[in-house]
Amino acid sequence: MSPPGRREDALFEWIGKVNGPIWGDVLDAGTGAHSLGWLATLPTRSLTAVTVEDWRLGELPTIAPRARIVRGRWTDPTLLHDETFDQVLVDYVIGAIDGHEPYFQYDYLARLRPHCRGAVYLVGLEPPPRDGSLLDQVCRVRDACILLGGHRMYREYPCELVRRWLEAAGMHVTDVRVFPNRIGARFVNGQLDVAKRKLPLFTDQALARAMEGQIESLRASALAQGERTWGADYVIAATVTP
Ligand SMILES: C[S@@+](CC[C@H](N)C(=O)[O-])C[C@H]1O[C@@H](n2cnc3c(N)ncnc32)[C@H](O)[C@@H]1O
Repeated sequence: MSPPGRREDALFEWIGKVNGPIWGDVLDAGTGAHSLGWLATLPTRSLTAVTVEDWRLGELPTIAPRARIVRGRWTDPTLLHDETFDQVLVDYVIGAIDGHEPYFQYDYLARLRPHCRGAVYLVGLEPPPRDGSLLDQVCRVRDACILLGGHRMYREYPCELVRRWLEAAGMHVTDVRVFPNRIGARFVNGQLDVAKRKLPLFTDQALARAMEGQIESLRASALAQGERTWGADYVIAATVTP
């Protein structure tokens, strides 16, 4: 599931400004097409990218042929053993961990800390506002379908909490920027399509059919209201003294 309304240019542009032009050995600590695609455009000395998902392994080398793609789990103590990096990008990883290794998000930044010898840039998504809006309902229906399909959801955490986790892990936060999201048809269709793909996995197919009706009526209402500002992304910049 991709984060809502990501405006990677604005987020990455901000990180680029905070970092300046010098890039060394860079780690993409939870990689994907967006983050690796951006990092591949930078004058890095080396580029290493970690993922736990096999399905990404086909496309990532085509996006960044020069990068070293590592398939591994951060719970594995031997992953990138003894390796350190000048810049570490943590791009929408915190929220994704619960879907792969529940509860590990609370230890993840401490696990990363020994691999950092310079800057850390953490991109996250604020938890969706529980405001009863149509977009809130879209997120609730998506999550209900993921659960009824027997899968695990993403779990997002607020900027302030993640900032404290970084400090507790021994990183010094130097800058924070919040980017309010403009949400439109791409988000609505993307999230409701995720919900729809879970329907064949429901144990109760009568419930699945009823849910499909709910998904489509919600889609029509949410699309009719047009684009609006809802929720936010954030970027936290931190430094680590070796
Ligand atoms: C939502 S994706 C990140 C999006 C990505 N940065 C992009 O630009 O598309 C989360 C990434 O973190 C990885 N990840 C999540 N939990 C992990 C874990 N425990 N160990 C290693 N990688 C993990 C996933 O495999 C995936 O590559």
